[in-house]
Amino acid sequence: MYKFGIIGLGKMGNSILEGILSSGIYKKDEILLGLHSEQKLEKYSNDGYECTLNNEDIFMDCEIILVSVKPQGFSEACENAKKYDFRGKCIISIMAGVKIETLMTYFNNASIFRTMPNTPALIKSGVTTICTNIENKFQDTVLDIFNSIGKAYMITEDLMDASLPLNGSMPAYLYLFAKIFIEMGAKNGIDYETAKALTAESIIASAKMIVSSDDSIDTLINNVCSKGGTTIAGLYELYDNNFEEAIKKCYDACVNRSIELSKK
Ligand SMILES: NC(=O)c1ccc[n+]([C@@H]2O[C@H](COP(=O)([O-])OP(=O)(O)OC[C@H]3O[C@@H](n4cnc5c(N)ncnc54)[C@H](OP(=O)(O)O)[C@@H]3O)[C@@H](O)[C@H]2O)c1
Repeated sequence: MYKFGIIGLGKMGNSILEGILSSGIYKKDEILLGLHSEQKLEKYSNDGYECTLNNEDIFMDCEIILVSVKPQGFSEACENAKKYDFRGKCIISIMAGVKIETLMTYFNNASIFRTMPNTPALIKSGVTTICTNIENKFQDTVLDIFNSIGKAYMITEDLMDASLPLNGSMPAYLYLFAKIFIEMGAKNGIDYETAKALTAESIIASAKMIVSSDDSIDTLINNVCSKGGTTIAGLYELYDNNFEEAIKKCYDACVNRSIELSKK
C-alpha cells in the first residue's frame, strides 16, 4: 500500500508533489502517480517515481489520494472509483466548485477533504482553504501537505464560496491593481522593471504589515497619510471614484459565480 497517490499531475498536482517531498512528508517510494500519457509516465519514471496509467491502481493501492484534474475531467478520471470501498482512506480534491456531496458519490465511505489552493502554490506561497465531511484522523496530514506549499486554513464547506475571492481569486485582483500602478509609473518615466519591483515589493511589505501589526487596517492607512499630503490626495480619488463599491461588486460577482458553477 502506498501512503499517497496523485491523479492529475498538472501545474497544481506537481507543485503539491514537490511540496510534499521537499518538506519530507512522504518519500518518493511512498507515492504512486496516476498519469494520463505514456510521455508523462516516462518522464516521471525516469525521475524515480512509481507510476501507473491506470487510475484504479491508485484507488486500490493508496491510503491518501489527491485528485488534481480539471473539474471537467473529473468524471472520466474517477468514474471507476465508484466500485471501490474507501473506508479508512482519504480523498483530497483541489477541483474548483466540486462539492463534498459530489465527491462522496464517487468515493464510498472515504474521509473527504475539499480544498481551494491558489496559484502562488507554484512558488510554495499558496493560501489554501480546506473543509472536510467528517472529523477524521487525516486532518493534520492534510494541513501539513498544504502548509508545505504555503499556508492552510480549515473552514466549513458553507464558507468555501465566500472565501474564494480572498484566496483563490485574490491573486488576479492584486495583479490588476499592481499592473495599473506599474504602467502609470512607466508612463511617467520610470523604467518598467523598476516600476514593477517598487510596486511588487511594496505590496509584499504592506501585506506583511497587515499580518504582523497590532494596528487596525484603518490605522495602517492613516499612518501613511498626513493632512493635505500626497497619499491622501490619491485616496480621495479612490473614494470619489467608487473604489469601495467596485471592490464590493467584484467580491459579490466572484462568490455568485462560484455558487452558480458548483450547482452544475
Ligand atoms: N490553477 C489554479 O489557479 C487553481 C487554483 C485552485 C484550484 N485549482 C484546481 O486544480 C486542478 C488542476 O488545475 P491545474 O491548473 O493544475 O490544471 P492542469 O495543469 O491542466 O492539470 C490537470 C492534469 O490532469 C491530468 N489529467 C486529465 N485527465 C486525467 C485522467 N483521466 N487521469 C489522470 N490525469 C489526468 C492532465 O494530464 P494531461 O495534461 O496529460 O492531459 C493534467 O496534467 C483543477 O481542478 C483546478 O480547478 C487550480
